[in-house]
Order: sequence, then structure tokens, then C-alpha cells
Amino acid sequence: DKRKVAVLVGSLRKDSINRRLANAIAKLAPERFSFQQLTIGDLPLYNQDRDNDMPEQAQRLKREVSAADALLFVTPEYNRSIPGVLKNALDTASRPYGKNAFAKKPGGVIGTSGGGIGTALAQQHLRNVLAYLDVPLLNQPEAYIQYSENLVDDAGIVTDEKKRAFLQAWVDAYVAWVDLVLSAPR
Ligand code: FNR
Repeated sequence: DKRKVAVLVGSLRKDSINRRLANAIAKLAPERFSFQQLTIGDLPLYNQDRDNDMPEQAQRLKREVSAADALLFVTPEYNRSIPGVLKNALDTASRPYGKNAFAKKPGGVIGTSGGGIGTALAQQHLRNVLAYLDVPLLNQPEAYIQYSENLVDDAGIVTDEKKRAFLQAWVDAYVAWVDLVLSAPR
């Protein structure tokens, strides 16, 4: 059976460079891994009043996260933090209290932006949230990717050879991390 990775992309933009990056990562991973980008753009804003009667979209997200073996977060940086749409998805699937769908699932964090810091601050904020949500995260290598024109082409291929090798090394480490965590007794 393939390892199922739930992918959360922190951008709703049609031409999102982070969605492109997520597509490229799926292509660089071995065949025995499958990647599913989850829909988060239709989630209502999280409201604790509805914890016992969650909206259908929220229940769907929780089901999809629960069914996954591993997690991958690919996010832009908005105002030096993570986009609200991603935080909303995290809050939604972490509730109700005691029913956190993310818990114990191995994860990785990566992102790209046009700026030189390549989402470093957003990733750091995200790590803070995911630590609380009990997601064992790949620590190293880190990947703060400055987007350049056509970094990932329409076919999901990283065009620049050096950047492709860098991303491949990250994907290899992510895959090894997921295998390690999932093979541990629990
Ligand atoms: C940005 N952008 C941005 N970039 C960055 O490197 N650091 C930042 O803090 C911000 N802040 C920010 C806030 C808001 C509200 C927007 C809309 C944008 C620019 C951002 O990196 C750029 O729009 C990317 O293209 C967003 O990623 P996607 O949507 O293409 O995946």
C-alpha cells in the first residue's frame, strides 16, 4: 500500500507558486508515495460554537486528514506569518478538543516566495503551531525557496538543475522521515 500524504497548500490563488511547488514535490517523490492536495478554500471560518455540529466541509477536511499517513505543508508567507486560510484549516481540523486530526502524523514544512527569505518566518510560525498539534516534523534540511520565473514549469518540473537537486535532497529527507516515524512502534 502506498503512503498517503495529505498536502495543505496555504494559498488559494489559481496560479499559486506554492501549489506549483507542491506539484513538483509529488513528482520528485518515489512511486510508493501518493500526494493529495486538500481543499481548504471552502471551509467556513472556524467557530467553536459548532464543535459538536461541524460544517460538512470541516468534517470532510477532518476525514481526509485522518485518513492520511503523513502531512505536507507548502505555504506562502503573508505579512511575516502563515496565511489565514491555512490557520483556519489548522484550527478546524484540530478540533473539537481531544479530536485533533493531525496528531502523531509525520510532517514536513516548505514554502516559496519572491522575497529573499523564502517564507522563513511563515515556516517558523507554522512549526510553532504544529509542535502544539503534536506533529513530528522534519527538522533538517530546511528549505526556504526564493521563487524565480518558471522555477516549476506547467508539467511540474523544476527547470533549474541546481534547484532541482536541492529540492530532491529535501524530498529524499522528507520521505526518509515519514518512513522512520511510521515504522516506530506506537
Ligand atoms: C505577501 N507576500 C509576501 N512575501 C514574503 O516573502 N513575505 C511576506 O511577508 C509577504 N506578505 C504578503 C502578504 C500578503 C497579504 C500577500 C498577498 C502577499 C508576497 C507573496 O510571497 C506572493 O504573493 C506569493 O506569490 C504568494 O504565494 P502564492 O499565492 O503564489 O503561492
